[in-house]
Amino acid sequence: MSEPLNGKTCVVTGASSGIGRAVAQALAAQGARVVGYARRFEQERLLFLPGPGEVTELALDITDEAQVSARFAELPTIDVLVNAAGLGLFAPLVETELEALRALLAVHVTGTFACCREAAMRMQATLCGHIVTIGSIASTRYLPGCGAYAVAKSAQAAMSRALVEELRAHQVRVTHLLLGAVDTSLWQSAGVDEASLDRSRMLQPADVAEVVVEALTRPGLSLETMTILPPGGVL
Ligand SMILES: NC(=O)c1ccc[n+]([C@@H]2O[C@H](COP(=O)([O-])OP(=O)(O)OC[C@H]3O[C@@H](n4cnc5c(N)ncnc54)[C@H](OP(=O)(O)O)[C@@H]3O)[C@@H](O)[C@H]2O)c1
Repeated sequence: MSEPLNGKTCVVTGASSGIGRAVAQALAAQGARVVGYARRFEQERLLFLPGPGEVTELALDITDEAQVSARFAELPTIDVLVNAAGLGLFAPLVETELEALRALLAVHVTGTFACCREAAMRMQATLCGHIVTIGSIASTRYLPGCGAYAVAKSAQAAMSRALVEELRAHQVRVTHLLLGAVDTSLWQSAGVDEASLDRSRMLQPADVAEVVVEALTRPGLSLETMTILPPGGVL
């Protein structure tokens, strides 16, 4: 049986681009009241998209714990949290500067943790809710040039595994997606040479958004870890 998202408050981090943006729009299309966070949303903006829901864009840097607490406290309820904020880095691990590793950990691990903790405390109290984290296949297998990114995504995956078990008794569901390559701007910001990429073989952000909607609307299933790759496999 499917559960409607109509009228639910869905928080999406990383909503200004790529997967987070596609997820925010897909949830709004299902009638959700989406609160989308990203650093570049300087002005609060309410988007009315085709369909019944809406997206409110708000500025938030998830690496700032005080900002996260303040933003989440503004919300009367949180039914869904989708952690899609992230950044990439493509370099051999031994050539990675400590600051670059810290920046990856600050978003994927401590920043995501701050968002999960705020949402989980609220969801535990209401005995419902769903946390989805956009993870990477790099956390389960070695991908050349992805060492530091894999360290951060592996820690993020461990966090999701712990949350699945800690929140189960409170009827809060937790889903972790292990994605292969997705056609977003992450590759550019990670420093990958565009000429080396075949974007036509990648997943599209809308494909991922469809899977997120499916996971959120199937309350009879605990979809804990899902691997989603392009048809050609890991690129
Ligand atoms: N693309 C892929 O192939 C792929 C594969 C597997 C997993 N993933 C994961 O998918 C997630 C989304 O990545 P994407 O591919 O959609 O990349 P993207 O298009 O570059 O989007 C990244 C998003 O994260 C936001 N962000 C970055 N740092 C932030 C911070 N400190 N606070 C708040 N928001 C922040 C960015 O917005 P602002 O810059 O405005 O803050 C942007 O909205 C990431 O966790 C990534 O690891 C991506």
